[in-house]
Amino acid sequence: MIKLVLIRHGESTWNKENRFTGWTDVDLSEKGIAEAKQAGKILKSEGYTFDIAFTSVLKRAIKTLDLLLEEMDQLWIPVVKSWKLNERHYGALQGLNKAEMATKYGEEQVMIWRRSYDIPPPALTPDDERYPGSDPRYAALAPGDIPLFETLKDTVHRVMPYWETAITPLLKQGQKVVIAAHGNSLRALVKYLDHISDADIPGLNIPTGIPLVYELDDQLTPVKKYYLGDPEVVAQQLAAVVHQGKAK
Ligand code: 3PG
Repeated sequence: MIKLVLIRHGESTWNKENRFTGWTDVDLSEKGIAEAKQAGKILKSEGYTFDIAFTSVLKRAIKTLDLLLEEMDQLWIPVVKSWKLNERHYGALQGLNKAEMATKYGEEQVMIWRRSYDIPPPALTPDDERYPGSDPRYAALAPGDIPLFETLKDTVHRVMPYWETAITPLLKQGQKVVIAAHGNSLRALVKYLDHISDADIPGLNIPTGIPLVYELDDQLTPVKKYYLGDPEVVAQQLAAVVHQGKAK
């Protein structure tokens, strides 16, 4: 039985302020730090160990992984960082308050922006200061590959090839893998693992800072999946994610 652990970063400062974040590189909040440490404690108490970790190039995921591994006394394992695991790029919504947008444009529109599979958010322009075109961490990308926005479908198209080429060979060798990433890069992976249709994917939310365990067979087909930790906390965290798109 192969076990894979996925974790969305702990609460970020912009989760706290309820702002669309995407590729903006914001830090963890105090609560997010506590969530990451708690995730590490649970994993340790349940006897988990890892051989290798994957994360994005955004500090909220990197720091979550670090805090989690520190709790597990596993800071020594190899950590692979890739922009392919970044949050979905939220285009010109980045920085805007989700509840204010719901008041202005309606909750339904915000739901479409947040959860539709292939309807794009408003795009950035390359001259926008939020466009990461001159950010050194993306220097290896062709300019055309740096997004002005992404739909979840676009996110699937960058996450899944990375999953296939970088992660699945290690899982098949029996390596124990943890992936610390983001709400929508993980929704992309979960969509694939659980065969969730385009029509049903809007109903999937991922809470911050809670380890999600997949038990996979030799072909990497999921046999079982569960969150580690108090089911009430998981339910509360999921409700909080949904609530972010409500008008105040
Ligand atoms: C963001 O980028 O704003 C969040 O991390 C994910 O947001 P969402 O739940 O609104 O998609």
